[in-house]
Amino acid sequence: MHTILLKEILTERTWHMRFAAPLIARKCQAGQFFMLRIHENGERIPLTIANWDREAGTIDIFFQEIGATTELLASMKEGDSILDVVGPLGNPTHVEKLDGTFVMVGGGFGIAAGYPVARAFKEAGNRVIAVLGAKTRSLLICEDLLKGVCDEVLVATNDGSYGTQGMVSDVLQGLLDGGEKIVLVYPVGPPIMMKVISQMTMPLKLKTIVSLNSVMVDGTGMCGSCRVTVAGRTRFVCSEGIDFDGHEVNWDEMMSRQKMYSRQEKEALEHYHEHGGCQGGCR
Ligand SMILES: Cc1cc2nc3c(=O)[nH]c(=O)nc-3n(C[C@H](O)[C@H](O)[C@H](O)COP(=O)(O)OP(=O)(O)OC[C@H]3O[C@@H](n4cnc5c(N)ncnc54)[C@H](O)[C@@H]3O)c2cc1C
Ligand code: FES
Repeated sequence: MHTILLKEILTERTWHMRFAAPLIARKCQAGQFFMLRIHENGERIPLTIANWDREAGTIDIFFQEIGATTELLASMKEGDSILDVVGPLGNPTHVEKLDGTFVMVGGGFGIAAGYPVARAFKEAGNRVIAVLGAKTRSLLICEDLLKGVCDEVLVATNDGSYGTQGMVSDVLQGLLDGGEKIVLVYPVGPPIMMKVISQMTMPLKLKTIVSLNSVMVDGTGMCGSCRVTVAGRTRFVCSEGIDFDGHEVNWDEMMSRQKMYSRQEKEALEHYHEHGGCQGGCR
């Protein structure tokens, strides 16, 4: 059992939680994730390890309530426990001293997922810029956290309520036009955003590493659920990623596979609402 030590709401339907998970906290590195299961009948879901404290034995997550499992997790309180966690999973992001600027581009929960990676590149002695995107100012998360580890934090909101009005790609274009010597772009967030950024940087031959969030079941390379095509080859995101060259990902296939369980996800959410929070164990 893993106790929830801290729970705070960040924006409507986005939460920050801290769990006791000493074995994961001891080993995890930037770019890795873990899988959690709330109770015996629950599904396992993958979540990025956004922060950790090795001495205290804790890990932090930032998550959006978008379906049955994340709604159930959001309904839990400090002091409650989840049944089990598996991790750290995935390969750590390759971090090195670069000959130019590292730009992390984050959208949605991807902002929190990009935080440990931005921090690791800063710790490796790089100039680091974070470009954060949100629909509107009240939905922006982790800005202060990123300000603590980046040389610059730039924001784009769709409605112009904060930062630049537009998309993260507009802000990245502004950096490129302004002569920033960018050598590595790291988009993390909604697949469509990662696709657009990758398409933008491809003709510039600007290295772009994406953090893929395909649908995962076991998270250890055995089920094939998370498969994507990269450079014409089938790859398993959980065991061979989660970072890949954004210029080589078959984005259309990746995005269509994101929707492959839509019917079951809808049914699970309806069941969850009808049965007062049960995820199937009461059937
Ligand atoms: C490596 C990785 C890291 C992630 N990190 C975070 C994070 O830090 N914060 C966060 O809010 N979300 C994160 N996600 C997405 C998160 O796993 C899904 O939001 C969650 O599984 C949804 O479950 P649900 O039952 O609430 O919703 P559902 O209704 O089951 O699903 C809603 C949508 O979430 C996606 N999804 C569903 N199940 C999975 C699954 N098993 N694996 C991946 N995606 C799924 C699908 O696109 C689906 O359409 C991550 C995903 C991956 C693969
Ligand atoms: S989640 Fe099963 S192979 Fe990746």
